[in-house]
Amino acid sequence: MKKVSIIGAGNTGATAAHWLAEREIADVVLVDVVEGMPQGKSLDMLEAMPIIGKDSKIVGTNNYADTKDSDIIIITAGVARKPGMSRDDLLTTNANIVGTAATETLKYSPNAIYIVLTNPLDTMTYLTLKKTGLPRERVIGQAGILDSARMRAFVAMETGVSVENIQCYVLGGHGDEMVPLTRHSNIAGVPLKEYIPADKLEAIVNRTRKGGGEIVNLLKTGSAYYAPSLACVQMAEAILKDKKLIVPCAAHMEGEYGLSDMYFGVPVMLGAGGMEKIIEYKFDDEEKAMFEKSAASVKETHEALKKLVTL
Ligand code: APR
Repeated sequence: MKKVSIIGAGNTGATAAHWLAEREIADVVLVDVVEGMPQGKSLDMLEAMPIIGKDSKIVGTNNYADTKDSDIIIITAGVARKPGMSRDDLLTTNANIVGTAATETLKYSPNAIYIVLTNPLDTMTYLTLKKTGLPRERVIGQAGILDSARMRAFVAMETGVSVENIQCYVLGGHGDEMVPLTRHSNIAGVPLKEYIPADKLEAIVNRTRKGGGEIVNLLKTGSAYYAPSLACVQMAEAILKDKKLIVPCAAHMEGEYGLSDMYFGVPVMLGAGGMEKIIEYKFDDEEKAMFEKSAASVKETHEALKKLVTL
């Protein structure tokens, strides 16, 4: 069985472990700084396996040595922004947590592929690339699958069509400036714009952009975790099974889309090598403008990180 280690056994980390184990995709190691919590959650999940007849092993630990020889490392460790905490404070705190997670796991799994989920997503993935010194193929951020799934869910709610028939593509940075590509999205091949009235489509696009905030407002004590963790698991499965799956992910830009030295949400092909290919869409002027605005906002956070942390 393949081995996936998840750093951060909180809501997203533990739920990712759940999806992975339930689908028998890999054995899972769940790491957290809190003593007992990853062990307790893992044992509970392990005890569920006989009921569904799966042989996935789940181990909880506070020790990075247990992650040895992982095929994939998923980083979800971090803190949420608390009242009174500035964006820079959050950036520094999460950069320290993610930086440690990246370097400690690399010691034990030099061949692993990294999937990053901690926010601010594009910038934490950039940090992981810098801290590990790995080639970009092996450090990928999760954002676009989630944002696209949210849009697909909203389109399904509006039209009553099966989610399986709905394809949506949300690219760009994982923030309010993300780029939902309505022209490339479709329902069973019919462009979204022909299926849904313009005002309704605009509402869907806006709701997608604010999808994360909508959940935070409802939960009040945390952020979304079912869909974000499943998005990570889809990436891990595509890599472990060498599926050559094309999905939007945060990838390191080296000239693609006219961008460089930054992470950004673009369609990529996932296979055994990790991020094996970046697919370049042709944009019209309106899409290009949205893309550039989103890139400028991500670049700003990257620059803030560089001022706060030594990379
Ligand atoms: N090493 C390991 N785990 C850590 C560390 C560390 N240095 N610091 C914090 N953690 C753990 C916390 O103990 C907690 O269990 O990270 C976990 C984070 O879990 P939650 O607070 O439940 O947050 P979660 O909803 O999982 O989100 C984590 O993913 O989607 C993003 O915005 C989200 O950045 C956030 C991250």
